[in-house]
Amino acid sequence: MYYKNLLFALIGLSFLGTRAQERIPKVEELLGKMTIEEKIGQLNLLTPGGGVATGEVVSKDVGSKIKSGQVGGLFGVAGPDRVRKAQEIAVNDSRLGIPLLIGSDVIHGYKTTYPIPLGLSASWDMDLVKQAAQMAAREATADGINWNFSPMVDIARDPRWGRISEGAGEDPYLGSKIAVAMVTGYQGDDLAAAHTILACVKHFALYGAVEAGRDYHSVDMSKIKMFNQYMQPYKAAIDAGAASVMSSFNDVDGVPATGNKWLLTDLLRDQWGFEGFVVSDYTSLNEMIPHGLGDLQAVSALALKAGLDMDMVGEGFLTTLKKSLDEGKVTELDITNACRRVLEAKYISGLFDDPYKYLDAKRPKKDILTEDNRDLARKLATRSFVLLKNHNNILPLNKLGKIALVGPLADSRENMLGTWAPTGDFNLAVTILEGFKNVASNATIEYAKGANISDDADFAKNVNSLGERIVIDERSPEDMLQEAVELAKTSDVVVAVVGEATEMSGESSSRTDISIPESQKKLIKALVETGKPVALILMSGRPLTIPEEFDMPVSILQVWHPGVEAGNAIADVVFGDYNPSGKLTATWPVNVGQIPVYHSVKATGRPAPESGEFQKFRSNYLDAPNAPLLPFGYGLSYTTFEYGNLKLNKKEIAQGESISATVTVKNTGDYDGEEVVQLYLKDVVRSITPPKRQLKGFEKVMLKKGESKEVSITLSADDLKFYNAQLEFVSEPGDFEIFVGTNSDAKLKETFKLK
Ligand code: BGC
Repeated sequence: MYYKNLLFALIGLSFLGTRAQERIPKVEELLGKMTIEEKIGQLNLLTPGGGVATGEVVSKDVGSKIKSGQVGGLFGVAGPDRVRKAQEIAVNDSRLGIPLLIGSDVIHGYKTTYPIPLGLSASWDMDLVKQAAQMAAREATADGINWNFSPMVDIARDPRWGRISEGAGEDPYLGSKIAVAMVTGYQGDDLAAAHTILACVKHFALYGAVEAGRDYHSVDMSKIKMFNQYMQPYKAAIDAGAASVMSSFNDVDGVPATGNKWLLTDLLRDQWGFEGFVVSDYTSLNEMIPHGLGDLQAVSALALKAGLDMDMVGEGFLTTLKKSLDEGKVTELDITNACRRVLEAKYISGLFDDPYKYLDAKRPKKDILTEDNRDLARKLATRSFVLLKNHNNILPLNKLGKIALVGPLADSRENMLGTWAPTGDFNLAVTILEGFKNVASNATIEYAKGANISDDADFAKNVNSLGERIVIDERSPEDMLQEAVELAKTSDVVVAVVGEATEMSGESSSRTDISIPESQKKLIKALVETGKPVALILMSGRPLTIPEEFDMPVSILQVWHPGVEAGNAIADVVFGDYNPSGKLTATWPVNVGQIPVYHSVKATGRPAPESGEFQKFRSNYLDAPNAPLLPFGYGLSYTTFEYGNLKLNKKEIAQGESISATVTVKNTGDYDGEEVVQLYLKDVVRSITPPKRQLKGFEKVMLKKGESKEVSITLSADDLKFYNAQLEFVSEPGDFEIFVGTNSDAKLKETFKLK
């Protein structure tokens, strides 16, 4: 961690010195004074409720527990005044006056919410991702928070899983870059500064691979797959200095992550050199009981021994570790080590110097929801949108004429922020209707709801468990449809805002059918039948299955859930003030039966015919193609780009060398625009089956109308490495293929050799 590295440099100790040499005197001094109960108290993370609780339990008697030294941190408490009250109890009324960590889930912006992480990842713009994280850190710390339960870096290849919305999609290379941008954005260069926040990498590990896409479910995966496809983003975040890690709900190789010694100690600390602390997920320690690992005392001892340092909400550590110590099931050293890690985090965030450092009552007004922040949120949203289709170049619209703005999400403030925005306030969100009026004030814009998000009352009840997101109208579906069709007929163009309510994705929001709900499908069909030009603005927290809509004569702009500036940002793109440049970071399947479908699949010994036609005894389906509807990396622009002249600067490289691919990209259309140039690699022959191709580089470039640029992407020999059957990270000499283009189906190809 930053402080320790600095300390090392100053006192001239080897970076690989023993932990004893690295110890922080202040922390050691405190540890020397602490009773065993006080040490156990530091391992306890509570939430007093009042925020969003993602489990059934919220903590009781929090104030008196803080006073008696039984609490190391809190979450779900915000605002300088409220946090100060808690901090004052810890500092003034507990025996040793140890300040509290104050955590929060700041997943896509604090109060100035920006697009859900899956949307943000579609920007492929690491500077912007970092700026987003910096803004979130500044706002959250202004409100008293010093620890953020983000980034979520779980690779997800099953869009049924609602939490695909919270991460960067399916690719470990892109996911790693985004993990680094977020960690460095949150933590800055100095964690003790008042505007930086401790990051928490989650959910360690493999949570994105839950069976059947059902949340909190089991995970079973070979180590080869783990290391080659899933672990990189966690490791990248840790290499970037992330201060903490959250263990996941699922099991890894048969042992729940929260009690998995191989995961939390052998891999995380011993192999990867992680020096921060590990917190459980919400009651994930207690949940090892139903997982079948024993009673609360047994699972608590198991978790501590495995390397878990802090127990979120479940109080298993608090209530059983002393007994386990007395019975010889854990040692005092186990408890001291965990406590030390928690105290070190408090130290590096500056809380021992000033426990009230994040509690300046003037800051919220100065730092939260400022005009600059809202401007950035608007910009981030425009960069996250992906143009999926532009039939007859319906988009961009001109700012005159009569527009029928239709659909259940067109004027729905409660569905703009996206899932996991408990710190945001949807009342501040700009609806699409408002955004259109702001940006195209000379157009005539009329609105009709047209359909409910879903007509299914049981489904709506499930979705609405945390607040009403699907509002079933008092009017009949037929009346609503009729009104929208009438409006469409008298308009020049129709814009239909359709898709998912915010809580149709996110935690505990898995779906087995990821299509647009039936009520809205009917609306889309009826609008298309009017013969008017139709643009669909599609909102969702996941890839959807839209083969029918994709075949219709419509334009489709995918906007995810854009955050507080939703309406303005959508209007910016719809009316051409910004030319969309987003690219999908998770593959869009044709249907649920294809899942998992992702770009870095392996080849089979019986590949399907290139033509896509079915062939017996080949790896294909009787009733659907193998190819997804939309590949990873896909996204259009209002302009067009042509790729040509791919060249490598070498035909052969040796270990330690690098190779550059250069391609000419030309803007051949009518608008200035940005393009994400993508480079994929194939290892032709190696000791374990290679993926068909893997993303290994990208560059986002701006090209004026008619402009050409040479874009170079450099690979080092290390980029050719993979984990072999012995789990050694190696590269093997031989032939490699490079593909460069506009998405993962890139066709331009060159070859080279590794000596
Ligand atoms: C989620 C975590 C979150 C935690 C605290 C859990 O249910 O899985 O992502 O950080 O709750 O709110």
